[in-house]
Amino acid sequence: MVRFEFFTKGGARAEFAFVEVKPTATPANPEPGSAALEASPAEPTATRLARLAKARSKFTGKSGETFYWPKAEEASELLVGLGEPGKVTAETLRKAAFSLAKALKEHKESEVEVALPELAAISVTEVFQAFAEGFLHSDYRFSRKTMDKNDGDDNGKDLTVRISAAAEEAELQAALANVNAMMEGIFLARDLTNRTANEIYPETLARAAQEALEPAGVKVRVYDKAEIEAIGMEAFLSVAKGSAHEPRFIVMEYNGQPDSAERTALVGKGLTYDSGGYSIKTAAGMVTMHCDMAGSAAVIGTLLALAKAQAKSNVVGVVAACENLISGTAFKTGDIIGSLSGKTIEVLNTDAEGRLTLADAIYYATKQLDADRVIDLATLTGACVVALGSEYTAAVTNDDAFMAELKAAADVAGEKVWQLPSDEAFAEKNKSKVADLLNSPGREAGTVTAGLFVGEFLAKDVPWIHLDIAGTAYRDKPSGYLPDRATGQPVKTLFTLLNPRNS
Ligand code: BES
Ligand code: MN
Ligand code: ZN
Repeated sequence: MVRFEFFTKGGARAEFAFVEVKPTATPANPEPGSAALEASPAEPTATRLARLAKARSKFTGKSGETFYWPKAEEASELLVGLGEPGKVTAETLRKAAFSLAKALKEHKESEVEVALPELAAISVTEVFQAFAEGFLHSDYRFSRKTMDKNDGDDNGKDLTVRISAAAEEAELQAALANVNAMMEGIFLARDLTNRTANEIYPETLARAAQEALEPAGVKVRVYDKAEIEAIGMEAFLSVAKGSAHEPRFIVMEYNGQPDSAERTALVGKGLTYDSGGYSIKTAAGMVTMHCDMAGSAAVIGTLLALAKAQAKSNVVGVVAACENLISGTAFKTGDIIGSLSGKTIEVLNTDAEGRLTLADAIYYATKQLDADRVIDLATLTGACVVALGSEYTAAVTNDDAFMAELKAAADVAGEKVWQLPSDEAFAEKNKSKVADLLNSPGREAGTVTAGLFVGEFLAKDVPWIHLDIAGTAYRDKPSGYLPDRATGQPVKTLFTLLNPRNS
């Protein structure tokens, strides 16, 4: 648990200063007590620490680097690098705060005093918001190790952060509440995605959504298989029918702006496991496919964050949850199936299943739920991982203004999104000779064709963005404040976009 306390300016002992640390100026390790290390009383703490750090370690002041200076009698000191002065962004602060928290936990410190810097480009509140976010990221753990409580893990330990900043405490408290809400959403999305397919299947995913969202004031409606059949979601049911776990269709409504009729739909891919079906994946390619519901986890997480922050917006989350398995009842390659929209689809590859579930979900969102704009998010294509790795989420859209809005939110949030061209030539590839559409048009521009396939199922012409999070939602190595496995992306972007307080 991390607890923040606030001081009025000047209340804390710690200080924040920009000290240039030139690697070339590193002196050969002088002995402790030598003249180079002696402190002059007038020297600011950070300057003295930087001098120590250069002498004692390879500290260069790079963003996120830390240098710990323990003291027996008085408070220990910690120097955190911020990179080049003048280039400090919110993201720099998130990373620095994360490193600071990690270092404090490593050195078993339970309290820290931080004076926030005053930067020209970012307001004090935003500085605090970024700092708090980065710091809180250090609290995330997912483990099923039975010995975890004793392996040196610091998770149970309390850490108090005393903040001094040139801002009203009420404003900082409000910013903290906002960050806390966002972190709850991110951590929920991560947990749901990290929990493996033996734990999370359609029924338990739906229950988890209810348990997390209903107490927060989000209306959750779960449709079972018979109800999904009655609605007529044939494309979704085709994917689901090979599994002993029955599908669930989950609709979640958050109405934070009751005086407005406008609402945004978030449609999340909810494959709780994707074996590929008869177009079976390789053994290695299948291991992490419990993450194929990361889109739905981000939808659920975003709704929780918005509700906790009491955001002034109306958002409806839509998830078609199922498993893609092999059995005597599974769908097969070559099958020509129907869909809720009435369009027919030739199934050339059962591993291109996500777009089939999304087709019915997005049609439902724009027809029955009457959404005014739609974002769908999905771990949809391996091609996306090839193109953009785990750094960038890919976007396909029919509305550049909406895209610009989302891009601006992503920039504020510190998540990366890259728009791909939604050219008519790519849409042509989705056409089948025997049905209206085919689900697997080949390797070329695979992320774009998959996105455009989903876009074919908008029931009306509304602004729409497709986000392919195959690379960004789940990673094999940690990076900065992002853990390995589930990252919770793009909850921050969606929360920022849909919580008007942030813009
Ligand atoms: N869930 C996968 C995509 C995926 C791959 C997500 C790697 C995360 C990491 C999706 O259902 C899939 O299998 N897509 C196929 C589509 C192809 C058959 C057109 C792919 O990318 O190979
Ligand atoms: Mn697949
Ligand atoms: Zn899939």
